[in-house]
Amino acid sequence: MTKKEMIDALNLEDFSPIYHEADRIRKEVKGDDVFVRSIIEFSNYCKRECKYCGLNCHNQHVKRYRMPLDEIVETAAQAIAAGYRTIVLQSGEDPYFNNDNAKRLGEVVSAIRALPTNFDPEPDGSQPILDITMSTGELPYEALAHLRECGATRYLLRHETSDPDLYAFLHPCGTLAERIQCLRNIKKLGYATGSGFMVGLPGQSLESIANDVILLETLECDMAGIGPFISSPDTPLQGYPNGSTELTKRAVALCRIHRPELNLPVTTALGVLNPEERKDAFSCGANVIMKKVTPTKYKEAYQIYPSKIEETRIIEDRQALDALIRSLGRRPI
Ligand code: 5AD
Repeated sequence: MTKKEMIDALNLEDFSPIYHEADRIRKEVKGDDVFVRSIIEFSNYCKRECKYCGLNCHNQHVKRYRMPLDEIVETAAQAIAAGYRTIVLQSGEDPYFNNDNAKRLGEVVSAIRALPTNFDPEPDGSQPILDITMSTGELPYEALAHLRECGATRYLLRHETSDPDLYAFLHPCGTLAERIQCLRNIKKLGYATGSGFMVGLPGQSLESIANDVILLETLECDMAGIGPFISSPDTPLQGYPNGSTELTKRAVALCRIHRPELNLPVTTALGVLNPEERKDAFSCGANVIMKKVTPTKYKEAYQIYPSKIEETRIIEDRQALDALIRSLGRRPI
């Protein structure tokens, strides 16, 4: 699709033929498997000032925490025992873990890499390996290289918006060019690379959303997280209207059509605004879902945007998610 065709599509009154096409391509290219990933939100310290984010460093209302190493590793072990093959390690940009080219973060990765796994073999007989996915913000090349050596296999770093002016407005301490350079470094180091963006940011145009889809291609991304902007209290964007869930699903569908091989999660933010929409997104091209395994006691303090706090029960939550996925005619992995 050209940029013009994408903008026209986003504007359509009836988008259903495009949803069908996205779903058809998803089935043809990715099959019926849904990848279920676990997320551990291990630190909410952040040195950045992103205007939309509840964890930005100016927010004095956040109770900051860091999980101790052994608790992070124990949580990962429980997630593996519950059937997860991917551990996503997510945090703010925390100088404690990012010390000396991410030495402490590397210790976390190495310790998780050393955990025993007992996954069922793939249909071809090969043994699956545990994927360790970093979602720990912009890091220098050497730090990214170190984490790769420690055993991290994937990296998530959304570009947030492809519009350089909007990016500059939202991020007092970083540029789009720096963000893109970091994504290129991630790709170069052999990580499966995930970018993504928010939909419905103040001042964002449909053209800019089309550019977001195109940027995923330019960066040769393997994954893309796309979620609606949700206005967060105690941030400079408090009171701004939330992004549209419909427009978000349309953007997901366009990504599936534009780049059929992408792994596309149904993002948490979509389900926060409308739980039904989360199920729906599986028929718009998405093939991944993430589930928090963060211990309950930390969850209240990890509010990027406001959402209902649910108690973490790692095994039961995973079983419920598997049942949901099967009820949609798909196969949880
Ligand atoms: N609304 C929606 N998404 C948000 N993120 C951060 N703050 C918000 C918000 N208020 C997203 C960003 C970030 C990811 C971890 O969460 O895209 O990369």
